[in-house]
Amino acid sequence: MNNEPMTRRTELSGKLTDVLQARTLALSHPILQGMLTKGMSVLDVGCGTGAITRGIAEAVGPEGSVVGVDQNPLLIKQARQTHGKVAGLSFTEGDIYSLEEAMEGCSGFDIVTCSRLMVWLPDPLTALKAMVKAIKPGGKIVIADYNHEKIAWSPQPPASMLAFYSAYLNWREDAGLNNRIADDLPDLLQQAGLAQVKATPCHEEVRRDDPDYAQRSGLWADTASSRGPQMERDGFITRGENERAEREYRQWVHSEAESITMYMLTVVGIKP
Ligand SMILES: C[S@@+](CC[C@H](N)C(=O)[O-])C[C@H]1O[C@@H](n2cnc3c(N)ncnc32)[C@H](O)[C@@H]1O
Repeated sequence: MNNEPMTRRTELSGKLTDVLQARTLALSHPILQGMLTKGMSVLDVGCGTGAITRGIAEAVGPEGSVVGVDQNPLLIKQARQTHGKVAGLSFTEGDIYSLEEAMEGCSGFDIVTCSRLMVWLPDPLTALKAMVKAIKPGGKIVIADYNHEKIAWSPQPPASMLAFYSAYLNWREDAGLNNRIADDLPDLLQQAGLAQVKATPCHEEVRRDDPDYAQRSGLWADTASSRGPQMERDGFITRGENERAEREYRQWVHSEAESITMYMLTVVGIKP
């Protein structure tokens, strides 16, 4: 395994930051939305630019309290600038592996959640155990994440994108990241001591007739544009291959694509 610090691979930049900003609680963490009630306290780890975290704060209302934590100081700065005035909402810079330190002893949350974070962690069980410590007894953990091996495109995208996607999964695996994490989460939650563990599908599908098709369909072209240079630097793809994948995929999205479905589960467990 490559020993490069993980932060270099997880670091978000360019168009992927825009993707985070466009997310909402209703569309991007829908199972959590259905579990929130006024007055709850919620910790959102790996909150990025805070778009989903803001939705959580609005759902629990000013009588609740919501904290967003992320290791990337630039994203925390952006989250504070954009959503810092929402009542009951605050953002803190911190690493999930040292959550207690970042939260300065603050614990006892009704819900501790994360979305699209576990897929970027080389040691998800240790991270889960840190999250469990922050939940009150009887409280819940709610985790939404992908199995990247189960993506479904209709029809098949260009060969250049399939080659990029395969290189992307190899690049991630080389850094110790689990491309199948969604399907491994139920076991991991049980190992972390949680009870009544339940997984619910919440696949992310974008279809040509969706009103937001133009905005959401370009994710993998944006990934080629943002992650491609990192993968090129790490020797997993050449610049020519990457640029071709982005160009041909944008063309495919424009003229041929019918649907893109990213396999995702929300897994919930209760702290005994
Ligand atoms: C793909 S983004 C997901 C953001 C948001 N939760 C969403 O669903 O849109 C993953 C986020 O996890 C953060 N992250 C990665 N490793 C982390 C760690 N060890 N501790 C805290 N945050 C981390 C990244 O900085 C990034 O903002």
